[in-house]
Amino acid sequence: MMDTWIKDVKNREHAGKHIALKGFVNSIRKGKNNVFLILRDPSGTLQCVSHAGDPVFADMNRLTRESSVLVEGILNEDERAEGGYEVKVSGLKIYGIAEPFPIKKGHKKVFLFDNRHIWFRSRKVTAIMKVRSTVFESIHDFFKHNDFYEIQSPSFVSGSVEGGSTLFQIEYFDKKAYLSQSWQLYAEAMVDSLWRIYTVAPSFRAEKSKTWRHLTEFWHAEAEVAFMDLDGIIKLEEELIKHVVRNVLEKNEDDLKLLNRDTYVLKNTLEKPFLRMDYESVIDMANQNGLKLEYGADLGSDEERVITQKLDLPVFAMRYPIELKPFYHKPEDDFKHVLCNDLLAPEGYGEIIGGGQRIDDKDTLIRRIKECGLDRSAYEWYIDLRKYGSIPHSGFGLGVDRLVMWICKLPHIMYAVPFPRTLRRINP
Ligand code: 4AD
Ligand code: MG
Repeated sequence: MMDTWIKDVKNREHAGKHIALKGFVNSIRKGKNNVFLILRDPSGTLQCVSHAGDPVFADMNRLTRESSVLVEGILNEDERAEGGYEVKVSGLKIYGIAEPFPIKKGHKKVFLFDNRHIWFRSRKVTAIMKVRSTVFESIHDFFKHNDFYEIQSPSFVSGSVEGGSTLFQIEYFDKKAYLSQSWQLYAEAMVDSLWRIYTVAPSFRAEKSKTWRHLTEFWHAEAEVAFMDLDGIIKLEEELIKHVVRNVLEKNEDDLKLLNRDTYVLKNTLEKPFLRMDYESVIDMANQNGLKLEYGADLGSDEERVITQKLDLPVFAMRYPIELKPFYHKPEDDFKHVLCNDLLAPEGYGEIIGGGQRIDDKDTLIRRIKECGLDRSAYEWYIDLRKYGSIPHSGFGLGVDRLVMWICKLPHIMYAVPFPRTLRRINP
């Protein structure tokens, strides 16, 4: 049987009735004549009270913060209680008495992440994880409703997709292997038979720089579509983001409120078409905002922070110079630019999606593999795909943790992930 949740009983309909709720002690105040306990479950909190002379009063006094209990009693309307309701406790079962809880207000980030396993109980963390759950659900939902097949690729791979500098090398019996940075190359093989495909899976990057938006293991939602060009894939990305944001606004209103998330930009994202800018215009905009970039400069976390800080809508940054992007992007205008797009989230967050149109011509692909200094032997099977009825196709990868970070307006990507993995952290 399902447990009863606080949010489902904290209403007029249940007032005056006997209820039973499981939960944890969010806080407790003990006086000579009463004990006030704030009970917490995944759905919210509820004040519970017991008075001296009640049969449960002694047991209530044994409770400590984060102890786990089953509370029974009559629910009463009471203006003085948070949320307007209170339980007068008549029955109490104690599952576990908590030792002094180490996490208090004002702890620093490092301490909190060292104690992520118990800090996880905090209401703010819970709210973020609920938003995260909606984000994942919405991504699956979007693709399923748009005739996509869900399909998987291996995590052990033999070559890089996104450049060698962030490859995690591992021992694979007597050979060298790597952890996958992206499903893309396999997706391009599978797209010829299934035409519209997606996956949601972890990707790995040996990110040596310490920034607010890089993990070594992140969740990657990727899609690949046959017979689609750059414009088509951009439209699909925009629809996906709008769908996710719409669902979060609908389902997680309380969570966003608890996180003090001002929802103006999220609502704007739903209502207006996203901005579109070619690379050169992005550089111009960056310089108008005080940066001193030359055409050809790469955009990292700091630059994108400045570029998007004042925006109230996501922006597609398109058609980058060929030197700035991996080998697989389709070149245009005599190999000067490529048909790529990065989707930059507003409010200083920057890139959440990377995607574009792929090279479909064999000779162009071989030339780009060579120019990028890659070992062709690892890509023979990928080149093969251009030999047998090659088609135009496009795809993208969405960093799901980054999307959660932006939607919740978090100061660092680590807050968006249950147990984050970074350059410095692999524990707990
Ligand atoms: O821009 P990226 O590197 O593109 C690709 O991997 C393509 N092969 C995807 C595709 O076309 N199928 O990565 C895609 C997205 C980025 O925009 C970013 O949101 C996220 O993945 N990402 C990371 N998120 C957290 N930590 C990291 N170290 C990330 N690296 C990329
Ligand atoms: Mg990228």
